[in-house]
Amino acid sequence: MSLFYLALGLLGAVGPVAAAQVSIPQVSSVVSKATSSFAPAVTYVGPTGSASSALKTSSTSKAAPKVAAATPSATPYWLESIAHQGISAFNSAPASYQVFRNVKNFGAKGDGVTDDTAAIQAAMSSSGRCAPGSCQSSTTTPAIVYFPAGTYIVNSSIIDYYYTQIIGNPNSMPVLKATPNFSGFGIIDGDQYGGNGLKFGATDVFYRQIRNLIFDLTAIPASSSATGVHWPTAQATSLQNCVFLMSDAPGTQHQGLFIENGSGGFMNDLVFYGGLNGVVFGNQQFTVRNLTFYNAVTAIDQIWDWGWTYTGISINNCTTGLNMAAGGTAGQSTGSVTFLDSSFTNTKVAIVTAHNASSFPATAGSLILENIVLTNTPVAVQGPQGTVLVGGSLTISGWGEGHEYTPIYKKSFENSITKFSRPTELTKNGQYYARSKPQYQASPLSQFVSVRTAGAKGNGVTDDTAAINKVLKSAAAASQIVFFDAGTYKVTSTITIPPGSKVVGESYSVIMGAGSFFSSITSPQPVVAVGTSGQSGIVEWSDMIVSTQGATAGAILIQWNLASTAASPSGIWDVHTRIGGFAGSNLQLAQCPTTPKTTAVNKNCIAAFMSMYIAPSATGLYMENNWLWTADHDIEDPSETQITVYTGRGLYCASTSGTIWMVGTAVEHHALYQYQFANTKNVFAGQIQTETAYWQPNPNASVVFPIVSGWNDPNFATACVGVSGQCNMGWGLRVVNSSSILVYGAGLYSFFNNYSVTCSNSVVSPGNGGSCQTRIFSVEGTATDIDVYNLNTVGATQMVTRDGSQVALFGDNVNVYPDTIAYYKSS
Ligand SMILES: *[C@@H]1O[C@H](CO)[C@@H](O)[C@H](O)[C@H]1NC(C)=O
Ligand SMILES: *[C@@H]1O[C@H](CO)[C@@H](O)[C@H](O)[C@H]1NC(C)=O
Ligand SMILES: *[C@@H]1O[C@H](CO)[C@@H](O)[C@H](O)[C@H]1NC(C)=O
Ligand SMILES: *[C@@H]1O[C@H](CO)[C@@H](O)[C@H](O)[C@H]1NC(C)=O
Ligand SMILES: *[C@@H]1O[C@H](CO)[C@@H](O)[C@H](O)[C@H]1NC(C)=O
Ligand SMILES: *[C@@H]1O[C@H](CO)[C@@H](O)[C@H](O)[C@H]1NC(C)=O
Ligand SMILES: *[C@@H]1O[C@H](CO)[C@@H](O)[C@H](O)[C@H]1NC(C)=O
Ligand SMILES: *[C@@H]1O[C@H](CO)[C@@H](O)[C@H](O)[C@H]1NC(C)=O
Ligand SMILES: *[C@@H]1O[C@H](CO)[C@@H](O)[C@H](O)[C@H]1NC(C)=O
Repeated sequence: MSLFYLALGLLGAVGPVAAAQVSIPQVSSVVSKATSSFAPAVTYVGPTGSASSALKTSSTSKAAPKVAAATPSATPYWLESIAHQGISAFNSAPASYQVFRNVKNFGAKGDGVTDDTAAIQAAMSSSGRCAPGSCQSSTTTPAIVYFPAGTYIVNSSIIDYYYTQIIGNPNSMPVLKATPNFSGFGIIDGDQYGGNGLKFGATDVFYRQIRNLIFDLTAIPASSSATGVHWPTAQATSLQNCVFLMSDAPGTQHQGLFIENGSGGFMNDLVFYGGLNGVVFGNQQFTVRNLTFYNAVTAIDQIWDWGWTYTGISINNCTTGLNMAAGGTAGQSTGSVTFLDSSFTNTKVAIVTAHNASSFPATAGSLILENIVLTNTPVAVQGPQGTVLVGGSLTISGWGEGHEYTPIYKKSFENSITKFSRPTELTKNGQYYARSKPQYQASPLSQFVSVRTAGAKGNGVTDDTAAINKVLKSAAAASQIVFFDAGTYKVTSTITIPPGSKVVGESYSVIMGAGSFFSSITSPQPVVAVGTSGQSGIVEWSDMIVSTQGATAGAILIQWNLASTAASPSGIWDVHTRIGGFAGSNLQLAQCPTTPKTTAVNKNCIAAFMSMYIAPSATGLYMENNWLWTADHDIEDPSETQITVYTGRGLYCASTSGTIWMVGTAVEHHALYQYQFANTKNVFAGQIQTETAYWQPNPNASVVFPIVSGWNDPNFATACVGVSGQCNMGWGLRVVNSSSILVYGAGLYSFFNNYSVTCSNSVVSPGNGGSCQTRIFSVEGTATDIDVYNLNTVGATQMVTRDGSQVALFGDNVNVYPDTIAYYKSS
């Protein structure tokens, strides 16, 4: 999370909007979109009233693909059919609490005729969940709200609750179709407005997903405001595989996605048709991959940010691709954008910016374009005085604007750049390799094995170590997919995931390490080890959390040992660490309150050696949407009160062969560093995001965790001699003796000293005090191609430190709130 807020001044215009009240036409209407000589037909065949309306798509290079009704018979999906035995271990009534909710069991018809709003909302709300307005956050009322194939008519917003996965059948994607007189802000309103603004604080909205749904706004008159999904969110959230159908009639007021606040986040595989805005985005940071837009006026309206990373974006037949000019030259609100491996086709202006040599703040509107293919797009970048970069039909290898340190300050630039040198291991057909979270939709139910059926309890009390290790082993041997029914699986020694495993959770099933095996602060043990050193093969793992309980100073939550090939990497998607701050952790407000007024360290709140270790033997690992979090507050506490939990190290990559992708990852509140790369190479990372522990420097980074030899720990006691300010604070990003660490967007934040934000929240306006810590990003030893696009820092005096020497000072690079270097190269 982060406790941050901008004076946006925009929200008056974007609050809840009620569509005009008009009469409902035939539900079985067919909406036909125009055709032209250069592009094939675009036809969406609306709901037919049959029990199901699975959609099939087929794409062409130039125009919106045909979207047509498929046969009514829904292909079964294992998640729908599997026995639902998931539990919430720390719910007040775990025996009766229902995690999995099929909307049809709550009365939804999905027949394209019946209004299903109330039934869907009943599925969302039943059994006393954490509801907006009465609850800020909780981990004890998780739910999957599941939609079988069908067309579900809704006349007002489905109000999303905390810790919810909204999932459709990917084999026959369900349609949520708004009525013409639909009212509400989003077919799904992810964070409802109340009297005091958003009901859930947007930067604390964790652990939720939406996937495999079609949002259909086309029955709503084009002239009425209408929104597909309202999605202010923070870390550990995702949108995957959704389609947004909007009017593309002249004057359309539809928008697919609306995000005005938060600290995200990740989304992928979304397709938008029509709309005034395909999406409206305002959030500190996000990683956005594989979004396709057709026929929007503006595909992406960036209302504010600190840093966003866009990759695999396809924009077709829009007036404007990305508008990042909000606020104008005198007061830009977009901090930075990194855009790569994307295309703009038949679009008038690819990117509109307010940045120029005299715009304010100086580094706002920092922009990097890398490997962008333009087709019949006359203007690539339009600035306040007109065209800055001419388009046409061509490929932009590298271009940018902002401040350049290559490696020391060179200039404020607006020109072509030498793009980062991409190791071939990381690419496929010239683009960075990417792979979406597998949903195993083609696998028959018989291929799945449930860990609860196999004897594990998941009740947070029983020691499930032996049962889990046994089923993992037998499943890998039998090529079965291991299903962790929702629950908290307490383990007292290492769980080993063997090569060949496919492991999938349900509503973020938790593996929780506990006990003396994990207690040595100098001799750590993994809670979950993936393979053993020397093993090769492939592991896929998704939708789970690894945690600890109580004093576990020697826990490495995830240790990746396995070697996979660059051509067929292993992957983890939506797998997170969560240390403290949740029911059952014994590391909550009662046990681990903040202690600003004492220098004493409560040893019972030392809860991990490291969040994740990518060992020297590991190689070929694709990471997507992972948040490694030491809790800064208690999620169960009604006031989300801050706590102090101590963890040693965040994500340490020591892979000798590298070949690691980190797509949308974040690491927060560990003592010595958040990310550390040592003696490694060939890493794609973007957007990365960190926060320094709020308790530092009381005590400083040296106090709780002793340096352990063999782990390449930073030695602050020696490194800080003679350095002024708050030097002895954890690194956001430390890179030692490594090569080709390519960072596509970074947000390294230090908001607090000893729980006070004064150090980050004062002095330079806009911008920050830069005095929470002296240093935050260190490049040490040999460094070849340690390169960062859009390095955003908050609260740090030095933005870059090379072998202990200052390279870049925050005050020279002031942005909307962070400080920004658009283009950093280590050599
Ligand atoms: C919305 O339209 C439906 C169908 O025409 C009608 O039954 C319903 O009363 C309308 N609701 C409102 C609030 O106007
Ligand atoms: C939505 O439909 C339900 C059930 O038909 C009806 O009770 C409700 O008034 C409708 N609401 C709106 C806003 O039209
Ligand atoms: C954004 O979220 C932060 C943190 O929850 C809050 O303080 C701030 O008021 C929000 N800003 C707006 C414009 O809603
Ligand atoms: C992009 O998303 C589409 C679905 O919208 C999917 O079919 C395709 O495989 C995705 N591509 C990548 C590279 O993830
Ligand atoms: C392009 O988009 C417009 C809406 O802005 C639409 O009317 C037109 O049919 C689209 N053209 C093609 C070729 O899809
Ligand atoms: C930047 O744009 C503003 C607004 O159009 C203009 O007033 C200013 O002169 C421009 N600055 C430069 C250096 O072109
Ligand atoms: C931490 O802040 C508290 C006020 O909340 C103050 O009393 C204390 O002296 C501070 N400690 C240090 C080491 O700065
Ligand atoms: C860190 O804190 C300890 C305990 O207060 C102190 O002895 C040490 O000098 C501090 N180290 C640095 C480098 O500030
Ligand atoms: C980095 O390389 C230098 C020179 O070979 C060596 O002295 C130093 O110990 C290395 N650092 C680490 C952390 O491996």
